[in-house]
Amino acid sequence: MQKLIIHGGTPISGEVQISGAKNAALPILCASLLTGETFRVTNVPSLNDTTTMLSLLEQMGVNISIDKRSEISLTAANLSNLIAPYEMVKTMRAAILVLGPMLARVGEAKVSLPGGCAIGLRPVDQHIKGLQAMGAEISIEHGYIHAKANHLIGAHIIMDIVTVTGTENLMMAATLADGTTILENAAREPEVIDLAECLISMGAKISGAGGDVITIKGVKSLHESTYQVMPDRIETGTFLIAAAASGGEIHIKNTRPDILGVVLDKLNESGAEIEFGKDWINLKVNQRLKSVNLRTAPYPAFPTDMQAQFMVLNSVAEGTAIITETIFENRFMHVLELKRMGACIEVEGNTAVIHGVTNLEGAGVMATDLRASASLVLAGLIAQGETIIDRIYHLDRGYERIEEKLSCLGVRINRIN
Ligand code: EPU
Repeated sequence: MQKLIIHGGTPISGEVQISGAKNAALPILCASLLTGETFRVTNVPSLNDTTTMLSLLEQMGVNISIDKRSEISLTAANLSNLIAPYEMVKTMRAAILVLGPMLARVGEAKVSLPGGCAIGLRPVDQHIKGLQAMGAEISIEHGYIHAKANHLIGAHIIMDIVTVTGTENLMMAATLADGTTILENAAREPEVIDLAECLISMGAKISGAGGDVITIKGVKSLHESTYQVMPDRIETGTFLIAAAASGGEIHIKNTRPDILGVVLDKLNESGAEIEFGKDWINLKVNQRLKSVNLRTAPYPAFPTDMQAQFMVLNSVAEGTAIITETIFENRFMHVLELKRMGACIEVEGNTAVIHGVTNLEGAGVMATDLRASASLVLAGLIAQGETIIDRIYHLDRGYERIEEKLSCLGVRINRIN
């Protein structure tokens, strides 16, 4: 198993180019199932999760060609296999995103129930409820969701909770349904808007994405298109914290400050100096940062995918901060590892109290999930001495060429087997 070794303690400095967003690329790749014509996606990040998604789509019969790095053509002219197997869904829950499009296009799909997850229970009841409202017959057989529908019918669906992939699955299914679907209490995440814009480029009739009511008028078929995946806001936030927590300076290119509002506000509040233009952000830190309280919630509130990284910033900031996690029930797995590096954190239920210390110390630590891994990398680069991070396959699911990018910013980081 591979590990990362980081020699920390030096402020980072330099510029970095942000990759395409994992959480936009995954649903957008699944949109290829909605048409028999060739669909070209650009700015696809090279990650374990995108590779897993491409293997799944290929297994289902999608013809895939990688035109050049980050540009992929997908043609789903003949879908020969309706099954998304457990082996794939258990390694990447986003595989559930094939359910809606397969059902809409070929009238049947069998997708493994995802099962347990490191960060919380993460049921998929809202995906199922929405598809049933659109006329699908769904049964759970031998651990698989078996969905069938001669033809999906537009429906008015009020979602019980805000779910990102739930909204995306139903939006994709509704593009080919008979009549109009209204999704109420829809997720407003920028990745949902990116998927909607991609579907519109393929001929779908969607309005309201980015708000909490999305209206989709079903069409007979979708057509070929080329779509560029948006930049990754979580990768951007992770690099901003790398610079902020290490007391350094960074110029971030190919990003979208307009969708990072609350993250930039919190960094400002902590004392970082930030400037930005349409697609770039500069961050500089000259003094010790101040602790910032935060509470995760659906967009536009503070993203759960940035919670672990802000925990690291608070670990070495001046003062005490309170972080409340409201999206996932078990997303504090990084706390015990950060404590092994000298952080002073108490957890009570879904709240963590972080008392800032002046220094973290390098240690051997274990990654438990994707964003927890990112937090350990950040902790490693500000800690005194050597940090060895085990189980970094979690990190490779969501960060493209992270050690190469960090090396260019002056971090001493190596991957070992
Ligand atoms: N939920 C239900 N029922 C459902 C669906 C969700 O109860 O049918 C609950 C979940 O258990 C959770 C909450 O609703 O408590 C929100 O979950 P959501 O469905 O929004 O999460 P997701 O769609 O599975 C996406 C991202 C996650 C990100 C969350 C929240 C993708 C592929 N994944 O997951 O990304 O944390 O939204 O923003 O888009 C990551 O990148 O590290 C990551 C985990």
